[in-house]
Amino acid sequence: MAFTIHNRDCFNWLKEQAPNSFHAVLTDPPFGVVEFTPEEVAKLRAGRGGVWRIPPRIGGSERAPLPRFTTLTTEQREHVRTYFRSFGSALEPALVPGAHVMIAGTPMLQFLVQDGMAAAGFEVRGAVMRLYRGFRGGDRPKLAEEEFPEVCVTPRGNYEPWMIFRKPISERTVAENLRKWGVGALRRINADSPFPDVIQSGKTPASEEAVGDHPTQKPQHILRILARSLLPLGKGVILEPFAGSGSTVAACEAIGYDSVGVELDAHHYGNLRKNIDLLKSMYPNFKGESLEPITDGSTTKARVGKRAVSQLGLI
Ligand SMILES: C[S@@+](CC[C@H](N)C(=O)[O-])C[C@H]1O[C@@H](n2cnc3c(N)ncnc32)[C@H](O)[C@@H]1O
Repeated sequence: MAFTIHNRDCFNWLKEQAPNSFHAVLTDPPFGVVEFTPEEVAKLRAGRGGVWRIPPRIGGSERAPLPRFTTLTTEQREHVRTYFRSFGSALEPALVPGAHVMIAGTPMLQFLVQDGMAAAGFEVRGAVMRLYRGFRGGDRPKLAEEEFPEVCVTPRGNYEPWMIFRKPISERTVAENLRKWGVGALRRINADSPFPDVIQSGKTPASEEAVGDHPTQKPQHILRILARSLLPLGKGVILEPFAGSGSTVAACEAIGYDSVGVELDAHHYGNLRKNIDLLKSMYPNFKGESLEPITDGSTTKARVGKRAVSQLGLI
């Protein structure tokens, strides 16, 4: 399928797009706060301090750093709301009526993203819970771990919400909107199974992370399932305004959807074509049309380590 990529700030780039250019958005944005500022990226690269947390080593394997959003101040939280109101406002004219937008978030910040997107005119349509064994939360009170051995300050995180929004339909009914714009609803898994809002997932396999060096790369398994759901008739163009490693564009390529990616960082942009080529050719039999773990042994067993295979549910 066709894709294009752009090394731009998506907010400025969106202003130049013709109305009704895109049929859906699948994205994992920065939270508009601090995690991708030069200062925080420097702390991430130095492996010390800031909003990035290095999770504990489990079974001796290296873990990728995660952003730690509990360190945010009230003002920074308010900034998240404003950021997503601006993002929604920038996005809205470029989407066809009835276009769905899926945004990866965190449980702590979800309400701010939803509030911002609603203020920009989007309908809030729930969220898909991506279930995986996370490392967020679950800690005992700091410096009093022994005093309170049976206490955890927050629940241990085992899901990632992918918030669902829709630009309001322009026609009288969803059926009419589908006929006119090709969107307004989600694609079912198949004729017997509607698209669900809980999906068993895993960490990004090591073989996928190995294509590049992006700190927050999402797995092809969940991205292909989500991307497929966004074009109910299988036609249209998906936009990923925060392309990162290129994982979303690669997922669209793998399932036969047209897509457009925008990435601000020159280093990540420079890796996009190579990453997309490598990621899209993994698991050639998995087109996001099933919720099962990927069992395409030709790629996974040959190329991934034991941990990644286990994340894919193969062992
Ligand atoms: C959370 S990451 C996305 C990771 C992606 N989901 C993946 O699997 O690789 C967000 C990305 O957005 C980029 N970014 C931040 N602000 C941007 C902007 N205004 N326009 C375009 N890209 C931006 C960052 O450089 C980063 O690569």
